[in-house]
Amino acid sequence: MATDDALMLRRRPRRRRQSPAVRALLSETRVTADDLVAPLFVHDGTARRIPVGSLPGVDRLSLDGLEEECRVLAELGVRAVALFPVTPPELKDPEGRESANPDNLVCRAVARVKRAVPQLVVITDVALDPYTSHGHDGVLDPGTGDVDNDRTVGLLARMAVVQAAAGSDWVAPSDMMDGRVGAIRRALDGAGHERTLILAYSAKFASAFYGPFRDAVGSKSAAGGVYLDKRTYQLNPANPREALADALLDEEEGADLLMVKPAGPYLDIIRAVRESTRLPVVAYQVSGEYAALHAAAERGWLDLAATRDESLLAIKRAGADLILTYFARAAAEAMRA
Ligand code: PBG
Repeated sequence: MATDDALMLRRRPRRRRQSPAVRALLSETRVTADDLVAPLFVHDGTARRIPVGSLPGVDRLSLDGLEEECRVLAELGVRAVALFPVTPPELKDPEGRESANPDNLVCRAVARVKRAVPQLVVITDVALDPYTSHGHDGVLDPGTGDVDNDRTVGLLARMAVVQAAAGSDWVAPSDMMDGRVGAIRRALDGAGHERTLILAYSAKFASAFYGPFRDAVGSKSAAGGVYLDKRTYQLNPANPREALADALLDEEEGADLLMVKPAGPYLDIIRAVRESTRLPVVAYQVSGEYAALHAAAERGWLDLAATRDESLLAIKRAGADLILTYFARAAAEAMRA
């Protein structure tokens, strides 16, 4: 209201925030179901859903449960799922041999989803950790005790071909070995899978936010309950330049999409990768990010839906084209409502 002491401001930014309609019209960033990828855990038993204690609302699904979940997601407009198998301990060994079995759980899961919901893009993880008795993403060098890079890369390439043959649309190396993207590309092409995309976990950090995921797939107990140290292959959280250099190597080797992981604590990395590549950038909002919001919401300290949506918006705003998130279904449901 005009009064004698009106400020007579030329610029009043609040004019543009005054109503829901104006705010929606002027929104610079939007998250839609097209942006979301749902990570799903699959087990080999008959129980349709087995809850994961540290990931409220996330279940380990049987193949029937998986088919049902994929139908619901597709109906909600989600276009892609990323599958993670829970391997029974008796199928694990130090070499992760089950990874190359064309009839292993993840291959059967892929086939099942592609048969039931063919339009859904199916992404499979390429790394040995679901299959190794020690829980590392590769095989160990008996001399150094460290993961043997080059022997692991050979196994990853074989694993990627097996997954592509089962129908996986995008193979996603999450292991951080040197040279794996190039080796996987050559192996796929050699086997006639030139249409299979490589979603490279390019800037994957040695993060403490993966804990609940390791509970879910049982790769933590494989290591005897200690938090596995993957710092000789995953990136140092202190090193943005190193992360960028590593991500661009994956592009040179033929990756189709570059991923940054985790997402929320690494928005600067998402932005840096976005500005350094013309490839699509994917971000993985990991298990610990999801669990932390749920835990605070359970205590009444945070509003779950609001922090969920804001966290996804921030990841998109930083430059991600796609977001892997355990919130995919809930967020898509909320968008529908
Ligand atoms: C395994 C893999 C991990 C995640 C995805 N693939 C765990 C790890 O590297 O130890 C973590 C995902 C999450 O925490 O949600 N290569």
